[in-house]
Parts: sequence; C-alpha cells; structure tokens
Amino acid sequence: MSILRTKSVEQSIKDTEDGEHQLKRELKALDLLVFGIGMIIGTGIFVLTGIAAATKAGPAIVLSFVVSGITCAFAALCYAEFASSVPVAGSTYTFAYASLGEIVAWIIGWDLLLEVIVGASAVSVSWAKYFNTILHYIGIQLPTSLTGGQPVIAGLNINLLATCIALLLTIVVTIGIRESARFNLVVTSIKLAVVVFFIIFGLFFIKAANWVPFIPPAGPAPHPANAGSSNGFLDQPLIALILGQQSAFGFQGIITGAAVVFFAYIGFEIVSTTAEETRNPQRDMPIGILGSLLVCTVLYIAVSFVLTGMVSYKQLNTEAPMATAFTLVGQGWAAVLVSIGAICGLTSVIMVQLLGASRVFFAMSRDRLLPAWFARTHPRFRTPYRINIIIGCLVAIIATITPIQELADLVNYGTLLAFILVSIAVIVLRRRNPDLPRAFRVPWVPLLPILSVLCCTYLLISLPIVTWIRFIVWLAIGFAVYFLYSMHHSRLAASNIEDRKEAVSRG
Ligand code: ALA
Repeated sequence: MSILRTKSVEQSIKDTEDGEHQLKRELKALDLLVFGIGMIIGTGIFVLTGIAAATKAGPAIVLSFVVSGITCAFAALCYAEFASSVPVAGSTYTFAYASLGEIVAWIIGWDLLLEVIVGASAVSVSWAKYFNTILHYIGIQLPTSLTGGQPVIAGLNINLLATCIALLLTIVVTIGIRESARFNLVVTSIKLAVVVFFIIFGLFFIKAANWVPFIPPAGPAPHPANAGSSNGFLDQPLIALILGQQSAFGFQGIITGAAVVFFAYIGFEIVSTTAEETRNPQRDMPIGILGSLLVCTVLYIAVSFVLTGMVSYKQLNTEAPMATAFTLVGQGWAAVLVSIGAICGLTSVIMVQLLGASRVFFAMSRDRLLPAWFARTHPRFRTPYRINIIIGCLVAIIATITPIQELADLVNYGTLLAFILVSIAVIVLRRRNPDLPRAFRVPWVPLLPILSVLCCTYLLISLPIVTWIRFIVWLAIGFAVYFLYSMHHSRLAASNIEDRKEAVSRG
C-alpha cells in the first residue's frame, strides 16, 4: 500500500548531500548540549512547577519530576539510537519514514509541527509576562490592552510583546545556525546560573513544615492560575473519568502532576533535529540528547524540592512561582534576578523551538509531502529561510492573539505521542535493518522501548479530555492535507512512477 511505503535510511542520508537543499555541518557535542539545555529549561520550571504543585501534587511534585524524568530517559535512549544511526534533519519524522511508513511519518511530522509551533507561541506569551514584570519594576507601564491583559476588539487579546520576541528570534534563526548557537550559549549560561542561584540561596529559607504532608490526600483539583477559562468536565484527566478517581493530590495527583511538568522536559529530542548540521553525529548526538536531559533532571528535582520547602505549596498557584517564593520570604531583589533569568531561559527555548519547527517542515518539503518550494536554502545563509519566515509569522500571530497557556497540554500530548512512535520505531528498525551501523544502541531491546511506550501512555491518559479532543481535530486536518496533497506529490510516489515507466519501456 502506498501510504505504508518507507524511505530507506540510505536514501534519507543521500538526500542530505543534494546541493540545493544542503545544510552546513557546524555543530559539535558542546553546542548540542547547550542547545538541549537551552531548549529544555523554560516555561516548565519557571511557570508550571508552582501551578502543578498547588493544583495537582503538593510537595510531591518532586516525585512528579522523577516520574516524568524516568519516562523521558527511556524515550531519550530511543532517540539517541535513532539520531546516531539516521543523522538527517527532521527528527522523529525522518525516523518514522525510515521504519514505519509514510502515513505514520506524516502523522508524526504533522504532530511535531503542532508541538513546536504551539510550544513556541506558549513560551512567547510567558516571556511577555516576565518581561512586563521587569518593565514594571523599572517604572515602565505599557497599556494592558497591548500586553494581553484585556480584550482589545471583540474579545481579542493583543499581546505585542509576544509578537516582538517571536519576530526578533525568527530573524536570528534565519541569519544562520552558527550565530544562533552562539546566541544560545550566552542566554543558556545566564539561565543556568539563575537556576543554580535559586537552589543555593533558596536553601536558606526552607522550613521542613512546608513539606508536611508531603503527599496531600486525594481531592478535587483547584483551578490553575494560567489555565484561561474553565472547561469543567472536559478539564478532567481521561484516566480520572475512566477510573472514577479524584484527579488531584494522592497517588494519581503525582501522575497528573507528572503529565503537566512533562512540558519542562520537552526539548532534548529537538537536539536530534540538528543531526544533519552536526560534524560527528554518531558520537555527538547521544552526548547532546542524554547529557542535556540528565543535567535538567537533576536541576528540576532540586528546584522543586527547594521551592516547596520555602513556602506552602498552596501559595504557588501563580504565573511566576520562583519569583513569588522569594517575594514571600522577603527577598524582592532575588525575585527580580530570577525574573531576568527566566526571560533569558524563555528566549532560548523559543529560539530552539523555531529552529526545530523549521527543520521538521524542511524535511517534509524536501520529501514533497509539503510543497518543495519551501525547502530551498538561502544562497548565503544556507538556512531554509522561507520556512523560517512562515513559521516565525505563524508563531507571532498565535502568540499575539491567543491565551496560549491552556494549549500547553496540547504540546505535551503531541510530544508523548511522538515518544511512543519513536520507541516503537526502534524495535521495527532493528528488525528491518539489523546491519545499519548504530553508534549508540538502546540496551535491552525490546524491553526498554516497551517500558517507554507504557510510561508515555500512562501520562497521555493523565491529560485532560479537552486536550484529546483538540488533538483529534488537528489530526483530522492533517489527514485531509495528506490524502488531498501529500500522498500524490510525495517524492516516493514520483520515484515509483519512474520505476514503472522504466519497466514498461524495457518491455
Ligand atoms: N521544556 C520547555 C519549557 O519548559 C518546552 O519551556
């Protein structure tokens, strides 16, 4: 069946040598590690930790980070094997094309586009909030109608700060990968310093009483601070509906908390989208993916431990919990410092998301699943500039007019689904292509990929019902595009026709 045709790994690698569609090989292991950390630490730790502690897990949010971190570690091992053996732009999409067939690759690519575009928009909105806080502090008051604070026309919120940051970073990404990596190194270092500062300075304000009870008894979920309007019934996690449980606190609260803070870990897999621009992907990809995840897991557990020790988890239902904690213990200056770190952190996240989005789009256009016109690289910058500009504008529009935080769950959904498919793809590719050189191999196949699938599925069913519905709508649009356009224009379809013509002419 044509929708199950696969693109061989060899063909994927050969395509990267096609001059007009070629990217520069510039990145080294350290760049990848910085990219990973730059992408990972962001809205998740700076915003969602407090909300998840206050509304889902209490101080046991520390355990939610452990659960989420373990789930990501299983998936990261699978990503590392793939990225070290199929070093081609496009991440999961390319991997799926090589192993599970075109339709699955399409679903994944479509899903990844949603993840990175909505993700970048959500983070741009959070960035605008922190930036506005700093402006406030230095005495500059922007009209609330321009910072998403109140509807301008027909219930529409306009957030111009979010528009500006999305467009500015689009320019950085379009100018070139090396410049982007350098820029990322600076902002990521500031962000890391601030997170470490929070952990060390916060230790002095810990009161053990705040950790009691460590796992609050199960109960109904309080409304999150940044969730926008309430959808009532649809806001329940699917699993709570199936099992008829309370969705907050207790054991299930730890898991629903893990499904929320999962957002904080997203990003290590985006490292694999730059495989084609890496000098030695076989060695450097596993270092970049696993290394960045490990560093962030340790930091997250420490931050959540300190945060819930400094103040009662009930006081953390705010949009800037780390700053709130310092304000509540009387250290206003530290709150401002943390806000500056958050702005840097969020800046690098948006940038890497924009970069990841363009690489997925690029790979799909090169395969003609989306029009090839997009995939042209710039003659001087050697970046897929048309795609960068389109994605940047899309992110800017969404971030400008949408209270995007409530879509953060949608990003988690898309990513968990991608993790599940990559884990399955590892098993399939081992069977289908056993001799492919693999610089990094997942241990205990198929046990470990199966564990990865199970953990991700558990988190997936711990997400709200409304997220499931939104995702299904997005998927339906994707299927329409695939069956009406991509299936007929796919490069593989064209090469099949060529083969058939040749066979006929030969007789
Ligand atoms: N992990 C990224 C963040 O927390 C997406 O912002």
